[in-house]
Amino acid sequence: MLYIGVDLGTSAVKMLLMSGDGKIEKIVSKEYPLSFPHPGWSEQKPEDWWTQVMAGLKELTSECDKSQVAGISFGGQMHGLVILDKDDNVIRPAILWNDGRTSKETDYLNTVIGKDKLSEYTANIAFAGFTAPKILWVKENEPENFAKIAKIMLPKDYIAYMLSGVHCTDVSDASGMLIFDVKNKCWSKEMMEICSVKEEQLAKIFESYEVVGNIKPEIAAELGLPAEVKIIAGAGDNAAAAIGTGTVGDAMCNISLGTSGTIFISSNEFTVDDHNALHAFAHSDGHYHLMGCMLSAASCNKWWMEDILQTKEFAKEQEGIEAKLGENNVFYLPYLMGERSPHNNADARAMFIGMSMDTTRADMTQAVLEGVCFGIRDSFEVAKAQGINITKTKICGGGAKSPLWKKMMANVLGIPVQEIESEEGPGYGGAILAAVGCGEYASVEEAAGKLVKVVGEVTPDAELTAKYEEKYQKFRKLYPAVKELF
Ligand code: XUL
Repeated sequence: MLYIGVDLGTSAVKMLLMSGDGKIEKIVSKEYPLSFPHPGWSEQKPEDWWTQVMAGLKELTSECDKSQVAGISFGGQMHGLVILDKDDNVIRPAILWNDGRTSKETDYLNTVIGKDKLSEYTANIAFAGFTAPKILWVKENEPENFAKIAKIMLPKDYIAYMLSGVHCTDVSDASGMLIFDVKNKCWSKEMMEICSVKEEQLAKIFESYEVVGNIKPEIAAELGLPAEVKIIAGAGDNAAAAIGTGTVGDAMCNISLGTSGTIFISSNEFTVDDHNALHAFAHSDGHYHLMGCMLSAASCNKWWMEDILQTKEFAKEQEGIEAKLGENNVFYLPYLMGERSPHNNADARAMFIGMSMDTTRADMTQAVLEGVCFGIRDSFEVAKAQGINITKTKICGGGAKSPLWKKMMANVLGIPVQEIESEEGPGYGGAILAAVGCGEYASVEEAAGKLVKVVGEVTPDAELTAKYEEKYQKFRKLYPAVKELF
């Protein structure tokens, strides 16, 4: 049978067709616009996602035996607020995971309700990108829109709804809403009250590998797919990427270098770090995970290359840098859209520090790549302080295509970085969840164990790790020194 994984990302939706034995048959990518209507705001139109998903599904299945398509599932950008009225019209553009407009609501939640209470109700504290502060923002700033809300959903759940007609979500993505009781995997009554939300406005909760329903007959007909195609709940993109890289079980680690940068640590038991600096979320394998999220990772490099240097030759710009690893005196703070983990400051901004007359373009490119590795190291340190022993990590996302960036990461963290056959983490994970939901595999662990292949490993070098240790100790002093400026 054939399974489809839909990775609903921030710059594009990537769709992947996988056979039951895990072979990737085809990948299709369709872009859509991202708008920044005010500095620090970030929005997309759910209607654009839907148009591109449908166009992509047609292209993806154009050459295959359509009668063999059994299931569709998802990895989706997390935390985005999608609101529909009673007639299922989208009320306003989705407010995305990297939107920083909710400083006031986030402060209210963390100080007036209080971090302890939030952590007790949801296992997390408020971050500007989470969904609950956005609901409060709409209530305060757009009361006419707030009054119209019949359904609240997350980005990939809008696509699942359009395909199946079921208002559903999954435990991993629901975890990022701050209305979900992660430990007990149910909606939090206290948080619903705080947000003035009723349970009937929220989705039905599924495990990521569960079937939510069949494809709607009219959509099946439009796509030429069998009416029995199942829609499987899917996961937030990081939990889906973890499946796609085989990050299941205790203290397994995956780093994703996409628009955002994340470090994802799987755990068989529910766990929360002492100060809630990391997100404590449900995993898509039925267990839990901790995660640190940087709001700008590969997007820092994209901004530096395309907007500032005006080039698309990413590999060429990185040539020659390898010889200078550990020697760079320029630092870059990667906070282009504010920062989530561990600083939780939507108003933070990016900076270059340490240039001299002999600083070159290559030094600054190097600083951008290193700044992202140091940002990941900040969250890695929080996990280590919890006593979690991470001995190696997988890596995925667009940034994982760069051998130089992987080498930096291995040496900045001081652990081996394992390369997976395909760096299509969320799309591959989504397809695996579809295969599990359709019964091709008995569990997510079994499927990930059989299908995900490690094809290489970048090992840290003792001398270089020592040099990067010195650099990191300087880097970690920079944010506290400049944060009053933001
Ligand atoms: C995770 C997060 C991002 C988005 C990116 O908490 O906000 O990784 O999911 O799509």
